[in-house]
Amino acid sequence: MKIIQITDTHFSPTKPHFNGNWEPLLAWLEAEKPDLIIHTGDLTIDGADQADDIVFSLTLMRQASAPMLIVPGNHDVGHLPGSAQPVDSTRLNRWNHYVGSDRFTQDIDGWRLIGFNSLVLGRDDALEEEQLDWLAEAMAGAGERRIALFTHKPIFVDDPQEGDTGYWSVRPAPRARLYEMMERHDVGLVGSGHLHWAWQGAFDGTNLIWAPAASFIIDKLEREMPGDRLVGAVIHTFDAATVTSEIVTVPGMTAHVLDEVIDEVYPRPAAKAEATEAAE
Ligand SMILES: [Fe+2]
Ligand SMILES: [Fe+2]
Repeated sequence: MKIIQITDTHFSPTKPHFNGNWEPLLAWLEAEKPDLIIHTGDLTIDGADQADDIVFSLTLMRQASAPMLIVPGNHDVGHLPGSAQPVDSTRLNRWNHYVGSDRFTQDIDGWRLIGFNSLVLGRDDALEEEQLDWLAEAMAGAGERRIALFTHKPIFVDDPQEGDTGYWSVRPAPRARLYEMMERHDVGLVGSGHLHWAWQGAFDGTNLIWAPAASFIIDKLEREMPGDRLVGAVIHTFDAATVTSEIVTVPGMTAHVLDEVIDEVYPRPAAKAEATEAAE
């Protein structure tokens, strides 16, 4: 089974900076003929506040012939409490209305694919708990199948046991819960987006993939990350017992540099300290 993961398309009808990457990406997807496409979030520039961004981006996604499953990113449904656009019921309802659920399970030969909404992790509230319970149940329901997880934020950035990375990865408390579940079940893959860096590694028997964004890379605006600055996609090839994942560039796609357009795309408050809230 061939599954293509795309992520961080950041499309918008009013901020069209990255929209030009859709035509080559769609042409490539059509030529690759995947059985399934999984989008790991940041579908939009600002779906967290603009319904039109979601409608526009979804219309493009529906041009792909293969079925597509999508989990939301922070720019689609908001981020942590205290951020400029916290996840709330208005934002989640907007996503549910236009896109559908913020999570999925799909069984394929030998595997259960599970997508979840990493933006509700780290809230320490009922919303987070409800999803962690759902995730535990979805994983338990896999039975003999191996599990592949797909979500927007990576579980960690530099080190599996690192502290709070703020904007970038899952917070330590929910991360520990994920590790408990990963210990109980045979999780072969975690595929994520969000960082706009492409990287492949492993942790405790689980392959980890940071899919390259389909929109922009980041030069000096934010911290360095492991991996490579590139735009593209990931081809996951599943057979009954194994998965291999290949990070690929896509002909014709442009690696836009966020640093050059951030003031138009994600205008920052004057205070420089706010800069980390605006990117990614
Ligand atoms: Fe993101
Ligand atoms: Fe992003």
